[in-house]
Amino acid sequence: MATKKVMVPWMLLLCLIMVFGAFGAQAAGDNKPVRAFFVFGDSLVDAGNNNFLVTAARADTPPYGIDYPTQQPTGRFSNGLNIADIISEKIGSEPALPCLHPLLHGNRLLIGANFASAGVGILNDTGIQFVEIIRMYDQLDFFRKYQRELIAHVGADKAKEIVNGALFLVVVGGNDFVNNYFLVPHSARSNQFSLHDYVPFLISQFKPILTTLYDLGARRILVTGNGPLGCPPAELAARSKNGECATELQQAANMFNPQLSQMLKELNTNYKRDIFVGVNMDILQDDFITDPKKYDRNQYVFWDQYHLTEKANRIVVDKMMSASADFIFPMNLSTIMVMDAKV
Ligand SMILES: *[C@@H]1O[C@H](CO)[C@@H](O)[C@H](O)[C@H]1NC(C)=O
Ligand SMILES: *[C@@H]1O[C@H](CO)[C@@H](O)[C@H](O)[C@H]1NC(C)=O
Repeated sequence: MATKKVMVPWMLLLCLIMVFGAFGAQAAGDNKPVRAFFVFGDSLVDAGNNNFLVTAARADTPPYGIDYPTQQPTGRFSNGLNIADIISEKIGSEPALPCLHPLLHGNRLLIGANFASAGVGILNDTGIQFVEIIRMYDQLDFFRKYQRELIAHVGADKAKEIVNGALFLVVVGGNDFVNNYFLVPHSARSNQFSLHDYVPFLISQFKPILTTLYDLGARRILVTGNGPLGCPPAELAARSKNGECATELQQAANMFNPQLSQMLKELNTNYKRDIFVGVNMDILQDDFITDPKKYDRNQYVFWDQYHLTEKANRIVVDKMMSASADFIFPMNLSTIMVMDAKV
């Protein structure tokens, strides 16, 4: 399994433990501990898990991280913070540590954890070209392992309370198109399915992942749709003739998003509760994508060939906080925070 290849510079680790060891007591010592936050998905929210793996999907060299507080690459696919980090900020918390991080123990567990791994998709066969990545089912296994450790640390009742009261974020699905179906002209999946049939197949495979999260105790889960898949610089370079966003990838996202919304609504109906909150990533499309070829990281959407700048990530999260039901349904993140604080 993935953890076998973890390499730790032990001296550095010892120093870090000495510096940061006391941290986390803060969360535990306060009367009102911060809400735990759990993150699942792909490179849009990976906080460094892939640094611990033998994989081609990595962001551990400069200039990644150039605007991160440490100005060092951390494994995040951005110049600075990603969407998950900025949501942590809104909760009033530290970014959740990657599940493979050696410091994720003790009171640090109370903040939550980030299980995301760049390159993964809904399907197990997405991202095979990256070799070692933590696929969605493995992310769920790591969450089970996390829960066992949390129970050992705070007891079963408290652990359940922490997980039931937590906020969850799931960002996945783009790679099932970009790094699977459309990766090469005659991919196995595109030989097997028309796009029209592939999208419902993906949704049908996504559903058990989400219901497993529910079974494991998640009660408030943000699920993002696909952003404008045809507009990142990599796709413009490969598929666009006149700088317009690549048609078939745009079409894929336009088919996927409403079917995802429908599935989330059905799940909420089944559970008789608004467990799932759908986020429409078209938030980015209209007012934002201007000229991705220019790489001014304070003015433009894309930081690298696929991933957003911190600035763009902040705009996404600000919209999650305040947008109307057209973009985030059944309610926005600031409403969720108010509602859940009363429970
Ligand atoms: C994906 O892999 C997991 C095991 O790692 C398995 O339980 C699951 O059924 C697989 N999904 C599909 C659709 O094959
Ligand atoms: C979303 O959030 C804002 C607060 O930022 C609130 O005023 C608004 O009513 C909320 N809900 C909707 C559906 O717009």
